[in-house]
Amino acid sequence: MKGKALKFPEGFYWGAGTSSHQVEGNIENDWTDWEPNNAERKAKEAKKKSWPDFILKKYPDPLQAENYISGRTCDHYNRYKEDFDIAKELGHNAHKFSIEWSRIEPEEGKFNEKEIEHYAKVIKALMDRGLEPFVVLWHWGNPKWIGEIGAWENKKTVDYYIRYVERFVKYSGIGDNVKFWMPLNEFQAYIGYSYLGGILPPQKKNIWKAGRVLKNLVSAQKKAYALIHKETGKDVLVGASHHATHHAPYNPKNPLNVLFVKLLDYIKKDRIINMIGSSQDFIGLQVYRHERIRFGFGGRYGIAKIENEKMESTDMGWEIYPEGIYHTLIYLNKFNLPIYITENGIADARDIKRANFIKDHLFWAHKAIEEGVDVKSYFYWSLLDNLELAEGFWPRFGLVEMDYETMERKIRPSALEYKKICETNSLKI
Ligand code: BGC
Repeated sequence: MKGKALKFPEGFYWGAGTSSHQVEGNIENDWTDWEPNNAERKAKEAKKKSWPDFILKKYPDPLQAENYISGRTCDHYNRYKEDFDIAKELGHNAHKFSIEWSRIEPEEGKFNEKEIEHYAKVIKALMDRGLEPFVVLWHWGNPKWIGEIGAWENKKTVDYYIRYVERFVKYSGIGDNVKFWMPLNEFQAYIGYSYLGGILPPQKKNIWKAGRVLKNLVSAQKKAYALIHKETGKDVLVGASHHATHHAPYNPKNPLNVLFVKLLDYIKKDRIINMIGSSQDFIGLQVYRHERIRFGFGGRYGIAKIENEKMESTDMGWEIYPEGIYHTLIYLNKFNLPIYITENGIADARDIKRANFIKDHLFWAHKAIEEGVDVKSYFYWSLLDNLELAEGFWPRFGLVEMDYETMERKIRPSALEYKKICETNSLKI
């Protein structure tokens, strides 16, 4: 097999992603007070864990409170052109990023035209460089005033969000130029972190509230879908982004393990995709994790544990299981929608696993394509090292390494491996 090249479909989109809160810097949203208020606690908790030297040596490290405060992050707000030059140089032909609602509507009903204009320029900068923009309209952070009314627990947030979306898509040069829209980033992960795990703001652990939030997010997706199609061009596509973990039974012969895997897949995939129904032109697949499920009391799910400690893992301890993307693509194929892989990535500070991580995932994605799954894109997460929302700055996901002191960007060797794939639209095996 050596020397063979796996060709991807013509017109395939290759790129990387970022999100406003994670890279832009100096954002005032409903996380702004939460971050400093929780930073000392998080640093203290980090001291109880054991950390390899290669992570502690990187600045800022997880034992320092400042690791958990976004501050100026990568200053991408001011350096987006430089960053898009890098993406272009790396052979990308598309880029996924998010719009920060809190910049556009910092106070209820008071829209800041200059900030809308800023994003119009961001979109133009991408298009000038031949990078197709994939625009996410909300990646978890809310304006402060939305936080104060209970954010997505409050039904009114749906209408406020739609008013913001309308203002944005109608702005000259935006609605006419953007072809790919993703109204909301990952229903599953937002609810998991913020309303079930109590990890991210508003730090709740309440299944009823989680249900209400899901209902409101789905309603927002449906309304945004209708609005964007009404206000923009005919060939526009509005997708829904799904955080899809691959679950597998720890022991496939144990019916309880198998049953629990089915239940998790139903709750986290089928149910949400079905609730959104026809208000998604494509599935935006965001895939990071693999969980081997063992039924029994305790663990993350109360009655089932995740048992994959002994496998090869990322710096964050997430098991590396490239085959998972294949099974997930095959699983999602039943919804008869095109699938855009809109996030897949690894925290790997030493850049020793990233190139293979990308290649192995693409190998398995290609196998799914060969078997008939309509896969249209691959976006590596992330273009730059950035603030990993629950963990701070220490996880290094970037194709490009960040020095947060000097703001220097340095292309990692794995980015050049990925570049070869993007430029040839194929993977050499
Ligand atoms: C989120 C990103 C995050 C990544 C890695 C995704 O679920 O969309 O914001 O950085 O996972 O954890």
